[in-house]
Amino acid sequence: MKDQATRLRELVNKNYKKSNNNSGEKSSANGARIITISSGKGGVGKTNFTVNLGISLSKMGKKVVVIDADLGLSNVDVVLGLIPKFSLNNVLSGEKNIEEIVVDAPGGIRIVSGGSGIMNLVDLEKYQLENLVSNLDSIASDSDYILIDTGAGLSNSVMSFIEASNELVMVITPDPTSITDAYAVVKNIHRDDRSVKVVINRVDSNKEGFEVYHKINSATKKFLNFEVESLGFIYEDLSVKKAVRNQRPFILENPNSLASKGVDMIAYNLENDTKNLNKVNGFSRFINKLLNSV
Ligand SMILES: Nc1ncnc2c1ncn2[C@@H]1O[C@H](COP(=O)(O)OP(=O)(O)OP(=O)(O)O)[C@@H](O)[C@H]1O
Ligand SMILES: [Mg+2]
Repeated sequence: MKDQATRLRELVNKNYKKSNNNSGEKSSANGARIITISSGKGGVGKTNFTVNLGISLSKMGKKVVVIDADLGLSNVDVVLGLIPKFSLNNVLSGEKNIEEIVVDAPGGIRIVSGGSGIMNLVDLEKYQLENLVSNLDSIASDSDYILIDTGAGLSNSVMSFIEASNELVMVITPDPTSITDAYAVVKNIHRDDRSVKVVINRVDSNKEGFEVYHKINSATKKFLNFEVESLGFIYEDLSVKKAVRNQRPFILENPNSLASKGVDMIAYNLENDTKNLNKVNGFSRFINKLLNSV
């Protein structure tokens, strides 16, 4: 197993050097911000948030790819009402290249369905690894944001994604178990060079949002000596449920709803969060780190 990971690391390093040697030009592979979206507890609104955030960023002129890395049932395609025919599994097998599996989705974003293979990187054959790395690199070079929607919690695969990305957004609801479960994830992954941002979903007031943020931040400050950043709040909003039922992103169904305004504010905050830009990495590095964590 280790040999496999070592081989991929070599491959990735080779690709990384190549993409950085492009006649002094800034490597476009370095342009994409890779952000993992996760939560402690399931069902807190990660997938809806990820898709609608992607659309909001796209409205700001950004090129966004959403990778559905959740093997559970309530996936990105369900929220968007489309069923991709192919997934990264077809890239791994060499049948397709990434451009053939990327699906254009409503709101100007593009979707990559993870498939089951993405979670078992160490089990892949060399040719599959090569396919994956070069294909993901090519998509990263043509994007501003890669948003990875993961499952909830502390499973190995989710932790690998979190470990690999420099930017993590945790979605939290005011539900006490959501807060304690999110704390458990942050406790496991916090590191000085990684920013952990939080989005408080389903709040009834700004006051409630601030209170939830304060709860998690005071716990991480006290016990981990680490502060999480607030990206903003999303209100509990009936239009979200209605949009889910219609399989349409709520930000397109109802752009002026409270929930949509919250997502727009979060997109704005993310785009203007310049503190962490020096930590932006290309996909090669991301995969490299992913392998270091398996
Ligand atoms: N701001 C909101 N207002 C009202 N309802 C919401 C809001 N956010 C999410 N929901 C409800 O929560 C449900 C679950 O959302 P979603 O599927 O995005 O969660 P998830 O965290 O991705 O779940 P899983 O852990 O299963 O992947 C939605 O179908 C919707 O009914
Ligand atoms: Mg989900």
